[in-house]
Amino acid sequence: FGLMSYDPAFDNTASCRSSITYIDGERGILEYRGYPIEQLCQRSTYLEVAYLLIYGELPTREQLDQWVYEVTHHTFVHENIKAFMQGYRYDAHPMGMLLGCVGALSTFYPEAKRIDDPQERHMAAVRLIAKMPTLAAFAYRHNMGLPYVYPDNDLSYPGNFLSMMFKMTELKYRPDPRLERALDVLWILHADHEQNCSTNAVRSVGSSRVDPYSAIAAGVAALYGPLHGGANEQVVRMLEEIGSVENIPDFLAAVKRRERRLMGFGHRIYKNYDPRARIIKEHAYEVFEVTGKNPKIDIAVELEKRALEDEYFVSRKLYPNVDFYSGLIYEALNLPKEMFTVMFAIPRTSGWIAQWLEMLKDPDTRIARPRQIYTGARNRDYVPIEQRE
Ligand code: CMC
Repeated sequence: FGLMSYDPAFDNTASCRSSITYIDGERGILEYRGYPIEQLCQRSTYLEVAYLLIYGELPTREQLDQWVYEVTHHTFVHENIKAFMQGYRYDAHPMGMLLGCVGALSTFYPEAKRIDDPQERHMAAVRLIAKMPTLAAFAYRHNMGLPYVYPDNDLSYPGNFLSMMFKMTELKYRPDPRLERALDVLWILHADHEQNCSTNAVRSVGSSRVDPYSAIAAGVAALYGPLHGGANEQVVRMLEEIGSVENIPDFLAAVKRRERRLMGFGHRIYKNYDPRARIIKEHAYEVFEVTGKNPKIDIAVELEKRALEDEYFVSRKLYPNVDFYSGLIYEALNLPKEMFTVMFAIPRTSGWIAQWLEMLKDPDTRIARPRQIYTGARNRDYVPIEQRE
């Protein structure tokens, strides 16, 4: 095969150069543009982090105000998108709805095809970040059979999302600041994670120079998968199935017999505790102060403890990942499991955009076109249908 290397899951292939997110998987370190994730979670907001990821620097006060203003004033979607949403079956999975609607946005903003124009790229970034929570909330209300709630531009980015999700009366929705903050932190943690499956999909599709809405739709599709963003939903299903702390040993035994997978555990890059999981675990208890405790947290904590004492997990360096505790928070917020991956897609949008922009600006970018090692037949003569067996 000449100089070609066989690396089907890109274990050992750098597909790009990037200055957005740094991960040291052995030491459990995550930084965005050089800033440790712990500091960003303590001191920043999701929208500020989105700006940092996309534009490379923390914004000045003026830049931040302008950015927040622009995002806030693009939260509405075209009424036809609403009609589009209504066309889905009553029980459609919200990730499927989101996927279709993000793709559909490309037809509402055809000017976004001008990907060499910095102003068009900026507008697409603003629109995608602004509209993703609206689409997510509409998908939820569709499933619940509830009227859609329009954005409330007086509220913060997470506060507006809570309003579009949970507002039940004509009165103004007043989000609990502790829940707003918890959502902001969760969204900071999920904003980017270098070349994961969905980001790779965005870059790969984007390298064809398609418009950003179509490229980001590819990211949503990849995130939908149970080994990627779908894992948070699977964790809660797994904890439900385990049912109580007494059943943990039997479940772990089934994992070790390879009959089951411990969802929310293991990571291609982290061979140490995922720093995001640690922060989410702390915030889970803060959310429970508002919502009441999710009893499954006791099973999760015990499951983690037993797994981390077990030779099978220790030798394979399997630790809790970002998805292990996040679903418990979403459940405490009364979100149905189908919405959990949507809660991941909302913030990952900023990472996808940052990576898409970086790809466009890199002079080394060419259309992604991996090679293959052909293993099929060759040079066969066509067989007429009557002679086939
Ligand atoms: N439960 C049990 N065994 C596991 C697990 C797990 N969750 N993860 C890995 N292993 C074992 C695997 O069987 C293999 O063992 P052996 O060497 O004896 O064959 C070894 O650990 C290495 O695993 P791998 O499958 O080669 O690891 P990978 O890098 O290909 O997979 C992963 C990474 C995240 C897909 C995998 O750990 C997994 O399936 N975890 C559960 C799903 C999950 O939580 N996904 C969320 C990932 S983080 C957020 C995101 O990306 O969205």
